[in-house]
Amino acid sequence: MRKLFIAGNWKMNLDRAKSVDLVRGLADAFRTTTNVDIAVCPPAVYLSEVAGALQGSSIELGAQNVYSKPDGAFTGELSCPMLKDVGCRYVILGHSERRAIFGETDAQINEKLHAVLAAGLIPIVCVGETLGEREAGRTAEVVRGQCRGSLAGLSETQMRATVLAYEPVWAIGTGRTATPDQAEEVHRDIRELLATMFSSETSQQVIIQYGGSVKADNALELLSQPNIDGALVGGASLKVDSFSGIVQAASVVKK
Ligand code: PGA
Repeated sequence: MRKLFIAGNWKMNLDRAKSVDLVRGLADAFRTTTNVDIAVCPPAVYLSEVAGALQGSSIELGAQNVYSKPDGAFTGELSCPMLKDVGCRYVILGHSERRAIFGETDAQINEKLHAVLAAGLIPIVCVGETLGEREAGRTAEVVRGQCRGSLAGLSETQMRATVLAYEPVWAIGTGRTATPDQAEEVHRDIRELLATMFSSETSQQVIIQYGGSVKADNALELLSQPNIDGALVGGASLKVDSFSGIVQAASVVKK
């Protein structure tokens, strides 16, 4: 049985006071939620502050990015030991904005992934096709290629410790969500690929989140799909009501 996992990716939003307010509200809202794993991924400068505000709650902390080296002359970068030091459990890797705006490649994401796993953090590896790729009928090819490249060299144990997020680029921040059928088709295909790359037992254990305009009112239908195990939420993770509506939907899903 895979436990549903809802993570909020705040991206480059909010300020210090709003970050603390938001997590205090979330901690209060999820006091009794135990059947869903929940994480928030604030901007890196607020990680410590948010970690403090989350003390005593079951909400976990995640970072939006990391560099693969543990320390050294890498101006502007943050390492896995630093993220652990401030209380992170998760790290998002290869988000489509990092791929498109900052030119991250599957090879770089793979290098980061190995560093994150070696450090004992849990990676959330993002994959997803653009609108052009979908319209050209290349969705499976693109997503499979990103999975193969990003996940290269993992052991079965490491794969089981890795979360994947399928995020069609055309659905991110656009208000345009993949239909439950469209999302489920890709999730099923990713699981089939994992069975060939690793084993069917491992493929059945990996958590695969969906991301792209997930909201309180479409979450239940998406999360009810057999191969969708949670959501990576952008815009709707910035307010207590909208994020807790998604967690609430996850908490009533019967798989
Ligand atoms: P969105 O972002 O929910 O605002 O579409 C999702 C994401 O980029 O992870």
